[in-house]
This record gives sequence, C-alpha cells and structure tokens, in this order.
Amino acid sequence: MKHFISLKDFTAKEINDLLEFASEFKRFPLKNPSLLEGRTLAMLFTKPSNRTRVSFEVGAKELGAHTLFLGPQEVQMGKRETVEDISRVLSRYVHGIVFRTFDHEDIVRFAKVSSVPVINGLSDLLHPCQILADLLTIKEHKGKIKDTKIVYLGDGNNVLNSWIYASNLLSLDFVYSTPKAYQPPSFILEEAQTLEGAKEANIRYEEDPLKAVLDADIVYTDVWISMGEKGKNESREDIFLPYQINESLLKKANPQALVMHCLPANRGMEVDEFVLDGPQSIIFDQAENRLHAQKAILQKLFEINKK
Ligand code: CP
Ligand code: NVA
Repeated sequence: MKHFISLKDFTAKEINDLLEFASEFKRFPLKNPSLLEGRTLAMLFTKPSNRTRVSFEVGAKELGAHTLFLGPQEVQMGKRETVEDISRVLSRYVHGIVFRTFDHEDIVRFAKVSSVPVINGLSDLLHPCQILADLLTIKEHKGKIKDTKIVYLGDGNNVLNSWIYASNLLSLDFVYSTPKAYQPPSFILEEAQTLEGAKEANIRYEEDPLKAVLDADIVYTDVWISMGEKGKNESREDIFLPYQINESLLKKANPQALVMHCLPANRGMEVDEFVLDGPQSIIFDQAENRLHAQKAILQKLFEINKK
C-alpha cells in the first residue's frame, strides 16, 4: 500500500507529475470519472485545521467521494484504543484516511497496519501536502521552481522539514534562516542529502535573516510556535523578531520577490500586516492551491494503489 506520509518517499518525477496533475485540476475542477466516485475518505484530526480539512473535504467531494470528519473527541487517539486498532478498524469501513496529529510516529504506526492509503495531513515533524501546494504556487507565479531563490525565515518546524526534503529532492535553490537553536533536526538534513536531486541542490543555512533574504525570489515564513508547542515556549518573541517579514526586510530581497506563508498567520509577529496584505503577497493563492493539490494527491494515490 502506497501512502502519502513524507515527500522523501517519492521521486522527483512523481512530485512533478503531481504538480502537473494539480494544475490540470485547477483548470478543469471536475474530472470525470474519478477513482474516488462513491468512496469514503475519513478525516482523522487530533489538531485544529481550516485549510487542510476544508480543501480535502471539498476536493474529495468534487471527485465524487463522501467524507467523514473524526475530531479528537470521537476517536481519542491512544486513550480508548491503540493507534493500530483505530487504523485496522477504519480500514474496514473507509477507502482512504487523512490523518493530522502530533507525534509523527503515530502516523507511521497507523499507516503500517492500514489496508487503505493514509495521507499525512500534518504531524509535528512534517507537512508534505502543504509543500506540494507551495511548489504549485511558485511554479504559477515564477514560471519555474528550479533556479528560483526560496528563502525560509523563522522556526525550524514541520513546514521547514518538508521544504528541506522537497528542495533536496527537486534540486532547488533554498536558504533557511532560523535562530541557531531552532534549526531542523540533523537526521532530517542527513536523510535529505540522500535524496535523488540532493547533489545538484543548493541548500544553505544562514543565521542572519538580512543576509539570507538578499536577492530572494520567494520569502517564506510560518508561525514561531506550532500547534502542540503552545505554553512551552512563551519567551520566543524576542529571539524570533529579527526574522519577521516586514517592509524593511523585504527591501533586501529581489524587487519582484513574493511572500508566502502556509497560514494561519499571527499578524504582526512572523509577518507584518502590510506585507501580508500587500502587493507582493501570494499567500491566499497559496491557500487556494491546497485544494487543487489535495485533489491531485487523492487521485494519484488511488490510481497507484489500484495497480
Ligand atoms: N496550512 C494549513 O495546513 O492550515 P490548517 O492548519 O488550517 O489546515
Ligand atoms: N507549523 C505550523 C503549521 C500550521 C499549518 C503548525 O504545525 O502549527
């Protein structure tokens, strides 16, 4: 059974095919017939969501599937029964599962015993669906992804980890700028270097955000405190303030630079209000593309698993 848990499990060709497919869905939203016709997709979420939940639900429905939302109160992951037993039972009822949770290992354990495809809707470690939509957005706005200088500023979190995989896999020009103590885990960086495009990729760490952003084509950020971290790290603001995307930082980038954020945003923290709503922001195009990308993931995953 092929799942969509991490970008590192895919080839560059498969990711590029998914992007092509997502563009096609954007042009022709109602593809018929769909492999999802009459099927049920469960949405198992132990964390809140707007974009991921809604885009998967709408996308699946546009492909003819039914969706079933299971929030934290219903399933009570690991409390009422084990992760494996939840997976074994859901596999008997539904045809695919989008799973958003805290511990990435839970998604791995869940998928291991699942007899239907599992999609990682975000874990503390990775957010692969987000990066697929991001790549699509860059391709649309810049005409290409390769040789586009992408600069990520802020926290070394799930979004950055998935970007590290994507940029190695697809041989991208990628700079990440985080406070020293908030860099991605070394095992992610090591694993990413084994991916097929890693040798041709140009990936660097730059602690100084003002240096990192020089000549950037894309300036990307995410929240400084991710879901599940709240309460632990209340003193982060001072450490992260230099990484805020504001008008003065943006002046250092390429004049045509575009600003991205996976959302939800804390306006006035990682991104300034004027930038978020300003002419260089493609943040809401990026959010829209979640829908087209999710449909591509669903359709391809069902196609692969049918073989
Ligand atoms: N970007 C993203 O995944 O948003 P949600 O948390 O609202 O799904
Ligand atoms: N890093 C953020 C992404 C939200 C889509 C979080 O995990 O909360």
